[in-house]
Order: sequence, then structure tokens, then C-alpha cells
Amino acid sequence: MIQNLHGDSDLITREYFDSILLETRLIGSDLADTHVSIFGKEFENPITTAALSHLNSHHPEGLAEMARGAKAAGSLVFIGMGEPAETARVAQSGASVIKIVKPYADEDLIFERLDEAKRVSCFGVGMDIDHTFSRFGGYDNVMGFSMNAKSEADLRRYIARTGLPFVIKGVLSVADALKSAELGAQGIVVSHHHGIMKSAVPPLYLLPKIRKAVGDSLTIFLDCDVENGFDVFKALALGADAVSVGRAIMTPLRENAAQGVCDRLLEINGELRAAMARTGAKKISEIDPSVLHFFGAPKAE
Ligand SMILES: Cc1cc2nc3c(=O)[nH]c(=O)nc-3n(C[C@H](O)[C@H](O)[C@H](O)COP(=O)(O)O)c2cc1C
Repeated sequence: MIQNLHGDSDLITREYFDSILLETRLIGSDLADTHVSIFGKEFENPITTAALSHLNSHHPEGLAEMARGAKAAGSLVFIGMGEPAETARVAQSGASVIKIVKPYADEDLIFERLDEAKRVSCFGVGMDIDHTFSRFGGYDNVMGFSMNAKSEADLRRYIARTGLPFVIKGVLSVADALKSAELGAQGIVVSHHHGIMKSAVPPLYLLPKIRKAVGDSLTIFLDCDVENGFDVFKALALGADAVSVGRAIMTPLRENAAQGVCDRLLEINGELRAAMARTGAKKISEIDPSVLHFFGAPKAE
């Protein structure tokens, strides 16, 4: 059970991951293949980078170096806040990149960022709607940029702007997932943005409920506190199409640049393949949620 974690959403989420355990189904099983199709494109694995930003303290080329590592691992790349020139450098890595734009109060800035992503051939775009409000109830300000609230009409305008797949990041309810689908988004990231709100429900807990509500109408990504391939397996089993890893690739980036990111992503994918092989899933679509056992809170029905 979740206890004594003082509303720390990261700790609560980590505890929830760890409270779900796997049985094995070895007879008739064999090596697993983790290829997936995301927005019509093939990737070697369902593990993406999370929409990170400001990584220059970890490597002089920051996000671009991260993207080179992820491309080498065969992973899709999300990136977050950053200047157009940085988005261009990331795109030059040749990785498939989804650029997440902040909910800036300045509409022109939003359109500039979306247009730049399209110009440099990003694979998709999106917005982290969970950065609208500050911890103390006002609008947020990120690195000197003011945010504000986004209406359904606003989001429809952004979705229509580029023609690229649009991913709404920071969905943590069935209500927002259904609205995202209705507005024409093609994907969502189920996330609490590394604990941007205290006492947030673990994304993994809500995932089955969200999948049930939206069916196949959305591609569902999940992030927050994913550390290993068993976490990825649990998220895939509970309804995610792909799973994003953020902080767990930052130290490898700092210590060993693109190679570190690539190695870490491949290691996580190796653990995923091990979990699949041991539970009788030869491909992602064969992952069976009934191999999971819930020792903490049950999954949301
Ligand atoms: C250094 C850092 C920068 C981030 N910048 C962004 C950003 O610009 N846009 C965004 O949507 N999320 C951003 N995030 C949040 C991540 O995309 C992700 O939601 C969060 O870190 C949870 O994943 P994790 O537990 O694997 O790190 C950032 C996270 C970190 C650690």
C-alpha cells in the first residue's frame, strides 16, 4: 500500500511500479521481438526519450547528443522546451523527433515553435498542458516565459496548425484523455511531469482506465519514474503503446554522451525482452496483462 510518502508523486509512482509483480510463462515461449509502429513508422523498440530540455550541463550538445544516442538505439525522441536553433540541431541527428511546445501565454511564440518543428521535419509536435499552473495557484513561469490556460479552441488551433501528429502531454485523467481524442490529437502522454503536482495518482494506475475509455483512437505514451525494462513491460501490459524515459538517461548522457544514452536505452530494451520472453510474449501485441499481480493498490477499473 502507498504509505508515508508525504504526497511525493515520484515516490508514490515508484512504489506503485514496484508493487506490481510478474508471474512466468516459459513453456512454448521464445526470444521476443520489440518492434513497434508509432504513427505509421517502425521503431526497433517502444522506448522513447522523455521530452527533456536544458541538458547542456550534461553535455555541450545537450538534446542533440541525446537524440543521436536514441537514434542509434532505434528509439523515437521527444524533446521539450528550447530555441528553434536547438530543435534544428536535434532534427539533424536524423532521429524521429516529437517536439513538445510549452503552453506559452504568447500565441505567436507557440506558432513559431510549431512552424519551426515542421520546417526542420520533426515527426510530430505537441504541448505539455501540465505546465500551465504554478505550484502556488497562478500561471506558471518557466525560465522567464509566462504560461497561460489553454481552451479547447486553442488546442484545436494548434492541432490544425502543422498537419503533423499532435501529442497532448500531461494527461492524468480519463476526462482529459477523452477531450484530447475529441479535439483531434493523435497521441497523449500520461504523465505527472516528474511530480509537478503533489499527491498525483501514478500514471500507471490510471492507464488501463484511460485505454478502455479511448480505445484505439489515441496512441498512448506513458512517462514518470520509468527506470528499467520491467517498468516498460508493466506499462505496455496495462495499455501503453510506448514508454518514455527521462531522468534515467541523463546520467548516462553526462558520463558517456550519445553512447551512454544508446547503451542505457538498449539495456532497458534488453530487460523488456527478458520480461517478454519469460512471460510468453514473442511480440509486443502478445503481452498479456494477466501475468501481472497487484500487491499494492489494484489497477483502476
Ligand atoms: C531536466 C528536465 C527537463 C524537462 N523539460 C521538459 C520540457 O521542456 N517539456 C516537457 O514536456 N517535459 C519536460 N520534462 C519532463 C519529462 O518530459 C518527463 O515528463 C518527466 O521527467 C518524467 O519522466 P522521468 O521520470 O523519466 O524523468 C523535463 C524533465 C527534466 C528532468
